[in-house]
Amino acid sequence: MCGIVGYVGRKRAAPILLEGLKKLEYRGYDSAGIATLDEGKLHVVKRKGRVEELVSAAENLEGNIGIAHTRWATHGAPSERNAHPHSYGGVAVVHNGIIENAGELRAECEARGETFSSETDSEVIAHLIAAAFRGELLAAVREGTARLKGSYAIAVLCEGAGNVIAAAKRGSPLLVGKGGGSVLASDLPAAAAFAEKVYALKDGEFALLTEDDVRLFGGELKEIVRDPLKFDLKEEGAGKNGFSHYMRKEMAEIPVSIANSIVDLKAQSRFLAINIVLCQTYYIQIVACGTAYHSGVAAKAAIEALARVPVEVSVASEYRYRDPIVPKGTLVIAVSQSGETADTIAAAKLAKEKGATVLAVTNVAYSSLTEVADVCLLTHAGREIAVAATKSFMAQLAALYSIASALADIKGRSAPSLVSLPALAEDALARSERVKGWAQAIARSKSVYFIGRGFDYAAALEGSLKLKEVSYLPSEGYPAGELKHGTLALVGEHSPVIAIIGDEKVADKTMNAVFEVLSRGARVFLVTTVEGLGEGTLPKEDILTLPACEGVYSPLLTVIPLQMLAYETAVLFGLDPDKPRNLAKSVTVE
Ligand code: AGP
Repeated sequence: MCGIVGYVGRKRAAPILLEGLKKLEYRGYDSAGIATLDEGKLHVVKRKGRVEELVSAAENLEGNIGIAHTRWATHGAPSERNAHPHSYGGVAVVHNGIIENAGELRAECEARGETFSSETDSEVIAHLIAAAFRGELLAAVREGTARLKGSYAIAVLCEGAGNVIAAAKRGSPLLVGKGGGSVLASDLPAAAAFAEKVYALKDGEFALLTEDDVRLFGGELKEIVRDPLKFDLKEEGAGKNGFSHYMRKEMAEIPVSIANSIVDLKAQSRFLAINIVLCQTYYIQIVACGTAYHSGVAAKAAIEALARVPVEVSVASEYRYRDPIVPKGTLVIAVSQSGETADTIAAAKLAKEKGATVLAVTNVAYSSLTEVADVCLLTHAGREIAVAATKSFMAQLAALYSIASALADIKGRSAPSLVSLPALAEDALARSERVKGWAQAIARSKSVYFIGRGFDYAAALEGSLKLKEVSYLPSEGYPAGELKHGTLALVGEHSPVIAIIGDEKVADKTMNAVFEVLSRGARVFLVTTVEGLGEGTLPKEDILTLPACEGVYSPLLTVIPLQMLAYETAVLFGLDPDKPRNLAKSVTVE
């Protein structure tokens, strides 16, 4: 993870870099730092904690050229010492990625008498480049990075190299831009904020930024001419819009996010490529991580039910290391909000190597995943800033249900219409305000169990992840029928159970599990789309009835109150749900 930014131009670099870091803070926020070159001398300021901690410390940094970093720790604890930029021998480096052979390289440097000032894997990059520097920074960066194994996007400043920033990329995202100076950044919104034309670097490429120009180079340092990206960042509303937190604001955007992400794949010629792929599809594998994996679990249930096409869904980090069997003609759907999740990208690459066609479902055009995929279906959740995915999960479901519906059509089956779902979600959102009352009881509990069966199982998994993520309460999502095979031993007075019933067909069966936990003293909160369900069994205030909905699509509604519950519990604890401890929005390392 981590976010990197660089600027060289006619303005003071520090304010621009700090602004860029604020935009990239979703990528990590345990420490931050900035380096500028002023009259040829390097000045470095770093702070533990969020970018805000760095602002006053870096206020007086002079210089029209600089690089900066916001960190999510991989090697070495979050501390000022381990914060980037790392400098050695007049070279300062910011790095996003993981250097897998850092230990070996560090030992080499130490053997020739060099000392290190951090525990990070990144510092060794500064040492290698300093050793290779003979007046030409780009050549030194090429020589230094040739020794690296792992992933990196780096930006480098060097005393004695003039007013230039050198950059290199392999496996981690990096964009460069020009217009009003030259910039580089880890994502498009941060780069586009300071540049008119933005270019995406590919793996193995380098860039050289000067006040007037940005030049791109291939592996042999041969200059490359590339078209700028075409982008429209109108939808990138970054404010909280009157809400206390981004997470809550983004939940309010769920209905729009669903409406914008439902597509009639059969009806529009721009989806021709996807249609061709779907027409040849008889077996699907879905790969994803975290919340995106849960949308995959929901999609498996929907695709199998509607189109009767078999689907296997895997956590991407498991898929990539288990030598998966990919039969001829397999369609692999890689789901990722950011399009930058290292494990998902690696799984997609592996699937391609094994002959699969890869369809990316992602919220970010021009992401690394879209580069790997054969075809791409964009979700339109708009920018999601809170670390906990809310509206992007709903957008993924909308897109995946659109695929399920198109596939059902191709297979000569009929699927229920998706058109009423945004309005139903709007209704569910309004009704979900009530779970604020439940948060009091949840906050007093030791652990929380979410149970669901069939389509509701994906909702249970996602409800549990959300609660863990933002409230730090131990929690588990479980198939309702499986509880009695072990996990029931943990259920009792201090372990409430959230039962999810969005599929009327299995309502009685899941209610059996409700009775089982009730009789063991647990309080049960019921989220259901089935009118009247639970009445007479549970207190009225412990039942949340959502609008009626086709069971197959019901996670689009039932997960909304679960997100709300997680949010309200975090607020009750006085936690910041937008930036949970130890986490980052985009997991670009394995
Ligand atoms: C969701 O709340 C999490 N922050 C996390 O599980 C996330 O969904 C996961 O890291 C995958 O991210 P991606 O969708 O960007 O690939």
